[in-house]
Amino acid sequence: MGLGKLGLPVALSVESKGHQVIGWDASEVVRSNIAARTLPYKEVGAQELLTNSKLELSYDFNGCDIVFMAIQTPHDPAFEGSTRIPKERADFDYSYLIRAVTEFVQAQTTPVTLVLISTVLPGTIEREIKPLLSDKINFVYNPFFIAMGTVIPDFTNPEFVLIGHDTHDHIDEGIQKLKSFYRTIHDKPFAIMPIRDAELTKVAYNTFIGMKIVFVNTLMEICHKNVGNVDNITNALKQATDRLISPKYLSAGMGDGGGCHPRDNIAMSYIAGLLELSHNFFDDLMMAREHQTEFLANIIMQKWRDTQLPILILGRSFKAETNIETGSPAILLANILDERGLKFEHLQETDFIKEPTLIFIGTKNEVYTHYNFPNGSIVIDPFGYIPEQDGVEIIRIGRTK
Ligand SMILES: NC(=O)c1ccc[n+]([C@@H]2O[C@H](COP(=O)([O-])OP(=O)(O)OC[C@H]3O[C@@H](n4cnc5c(N)ncnc54)[C@H](O)[C@@H]3O)[C@@H](O)[C@H]2O)c1
Repeated sequence: MGLGKLGLPVALSVESKGHQVIGWDASEVVRSNIAARTLPYKEVGAQELLTNSKLELSYDFNGCDIVFMAIQTPHDPAFEGSTRIPKERADFDYSYLIRAVTEFVQAQTTPVTLVLISTVLPGTIEREIKPLLSDKINFVYNPFFIAMGTVIPDFTNPEFVLIGHDTHDHIDEGIQKLKSFYRTIHDKPFAIMPIRDAELTKVAYNTFIGMKIVFVNTLMEICHKNVGNVDNITNALKQATDRLISPKYLSAGMGDGGGCHPRDNIAMSYIAGLLELSHNFFDDLMMAREHQTEFLANIIMQKWRDTQLPILILGRSFKAETNIETGSPAILLANILDERGLKFEHLQETDFIKEPTLIFIGTKNEVYTHYNFPNGSIVIDPFGYIPEQDGVEIIRIGRTK
């Protein structure tokens, strides 16, 4: 139920493992795209599965063993991380989810395991969802750790499966059913815990990634100001996989982005306020991300004052593999430059730059490494991956030669 950017690739993935799958989405646009077997966004492996899929669109889930629910829980656009963060913070919007659960419970006449995969903040299920359930529903919370663009490989090959449930003194049928289901998909371990802890585990995972990126970008800024090379440091740290951490998300560049990480971090800064935590760590992380983006804006401003070259930001999406701009640090940078009244172009791709230009690389897109920048151009590269070019000054932030 909910065949959006998460629900549809998951439904197709489950079907590809031999299960019979039906699905429903409230949006007519989503349903007609599925009926026409077209996918309006980039998602590894999904178009091929959709083309060959027997997925049936039906609202009647009676008789199903398991119903997965992937309904949106959006944050106000002001809290997505593409703009400066407002002083006031807020929770996610649960109205779509509440409506979906209410409709589902009313229509369901046979016993079923209802598996919620949407992201919610700690305490939400107790407060908003449980009061809506009936005795026909075996409720399980099972949020996924997947990235947009790689939903299918991430779903079929996760690090672990997080399951939240609240039955205390008997073995819950819903859990057993879900565990057997997952054994048809992969053999990865389960982390089973009370729902409230699972809610926190889900957002802790996302915000942990944001924390790593803020940390390496701090090292990048030190190296830029102190004449060092941040890649030497991060490449060494990446080898400390025993006592430190995995090498993923440990290369310096732009801030964390996408539809999940910044918004979860900002939402957790709201929870920190609500719980009157002794220190709002999540606020620190998001303000650090904003200040680090200002640091990059200052470098652009300085170079522009020195040269008066026209400015182009290359890259709008939050990562190269997608065209999604939600929570993109490149858009945040553009908003900060706008605030300062600077004129610039902001493009996802263009291999036709005529005049000498001050170019900032906002997304680590492989295609930019093949661009021939005009003589006299300056390229500011926070990722340190654009190759040398005759007649072009490449400034690799925090990577002094
Ligand atoms: N997209 C991701 O990579 C990702 C990753 C992890 C977690 N999540 C979480 O999963 C949830 C869904 O995210 P998404 O990106 O798929 O959102 P989405 O907006 O792409 O999809 C949600 C879908 O649910 C449908 N819907 C809304 N109300 C409905 C109803 N009453 N009945 C049936 N369908 C209904 C919408 O029309 C929409 O197509 C969110 O909580 C999100 O935070 C998403």
